[in-house]
Amino acid sequence: MTDFDCTPQVDLEFMNAEHRKAFDDANEIKQLLGMAKKDLKLVEKDIDKRLKKLLADTVNHFHLEEKCMEEYQFPAREKHQQEHQRVLAWMVDEHSRWQSQPSVEAMLRLEHYVGEEFPQWLVNHIVTMDTVTASYIARNGGGFL
Ligand SMILES: [Fe+2]
Ligand SMILES: [Fe+2]
Repeated sequence: MTDFDCTPQVDLEFMNAEHRKAFDDANEIKQLLGMAKKDLKLVEKDIDKRLKKLLADTVNHFHLEEKCMEEYQFPAREKHQQEHQRVLAWMVDEHSRWQSQPSVEAMLRLEHYVGEEFPQWLVNHIVTMDTVTASYIARNGGGFL
């Protein structure tokens, strides 16, 4: 399983806290999807609720990083922000696909997204863009964040 505990931490604590939340959100949806295999109707609303939480937490996570990059004038902030926008659009798309027709097929797709694609993207993003960003900001006076 891809999760926070097997992912290297970055130099800013607020970012590590956001990343833990993102892994937790995705894992919770994955667990609900496991239950949905027995009775989809029973957990359909819960899955939707959790997807909304993942989306809201992700908006907040990206917003905090972007605010920080702006404040400390991180040089590659535009590229980092563009990547956030791309991933947010992808997440919104997966969510609306699920909402438009919660079926067995949609369930498998969502399971692949929250169980593999999203956590894999997150690990990759953490060890690349987020690590560089956090290290720059920590070295430039943001060490307390
Ligand atoms: Fe991040
Ligand atoms: Fe980021």
